[in-house]
Amino acid sequence: MHSEYQHLIDLNDFPVAWWKKLIELGENIKNDPVKYAHECEGKVMATLFYEPSTRTQMSFQTAMLRLGGKIIGFDNPANSSVAKGETIKDTTKIVSSYADILVIRHPVAGAAKAASLTADCPVINAGDGGHLHPTQTLTDLLTLKIEKKRLSGLTIGMCGDLINGRTVHSLCKALSMLENNKFIFISTPKLKMPVYIKDIIKANGSTYEEVHTLEEAMDKLDVLYMTRIQQERFDSEEEYLAQKNTYVLDKKKMQLARQDMIVMHPLPRVDEITVEVDEDPRAMYFTQAKYGVFARMALIMMMLDGKKSSETLRGKVYGGVRCDNPRCITNHEEYLPKSFRSSGDETLLECEYCDERKLI
Ligand code: NCD
Repeated sequence: MHSEYQHLIDLNDFPVAWWKKLIELGENIKNDPVKYAHECEGKVMATLFYEPSTRTQMSFQTAMLRLGGKIIGFDNPANSSVAKGETIKDTTKIVSSYADILVIRHPVAGAAKAASLTADCPVINAGDGGHLHPTQTLTDLLTLKIEKKRLSGLTIGMCGDLINGRTVHSLCKALSMLENNKFIFISTPKLKMPVYIKDIIKANGSTYEEVHTLEEAMDKLDVLYMTRIQQERFDSEEEYLAQKNTYVLDKKKMQLARQDMIVMHPLPRVDEITVEVDEDPRAMYFTQAKYGVFARMALIMMMLDGKKSSETLRGKVYGGVRCDNPRCITNHEEYLPKSFRSSGDETLLECEYCDERKLI
């Protein structure tokens, strides 16, 4: 399987200079959107959403329309041939021959990577299970750049479902690449940030601490990034109910925060931020969602302008070895080559699709 295009599966596949250029372009678009109204004339973007979405899908569609391009796609796989059992490989192969750029969201980790292997156009990961969400990170970075005027020297609190939240995984990977960022993870023991993300943070030279309550962290933060408990990723209703309502940001807790702290949230909000906080000038989540259009306009322009790439899978196939993660795409679509990176430790392999580690 081989695709000649450059894809956005994980932001960390691109150099920091590329993200910075994209954020600068996003700021320029925000300041003068009309200037870019014809950039994608004649181009078609396909959105393949196998999982519910409001903001990500609509902001991508708005972005393409505002660039003068056109859109096709589905937001309910039940209405497409997926319902007849079509593989990601076949759907991608066909749709990428209709469109110039393809945006995919899927409930299984590594699905965007799988799509990229056979696509005849650039593929953008719009969220793959509980794994990554790089375009939310671009939105978040643009928000930080505009609202905090910097991407480094920040103390960022992340609160809620840190184990299943793909937005916080991608954001940690990105912010830890930039200087002097510190993380405070606020979660229950069951919803802690995955070890592999914490290892990446350490390897990038950033630091983190883990606490159980918002109160312990509030006065130290430049940014509080709230997340929803990801109900759909729990194995049972009881497990979800045991975590629900653990963290609720309200007016009282906001009094503990600095005057220049901002509150971010990828949305949708369920009950983790009370509506009274919306009136606080530090609440930035609706503005953040608005900036998502500018970030995605910049991304579409840069991907359509991107170089061709000869890389597809960079890891190795170890005869008979498969990923242990039941939520990895390689355990759902059998034809995929099972590819692993060596992690530096001889006995530990990392799945190239979902990053799950495996002892050999
Ligand atoms: C997030 C997602 O889908 O991961 N939403 C989004 O893209 N803005 C967060 C969530 O669903 O909780």
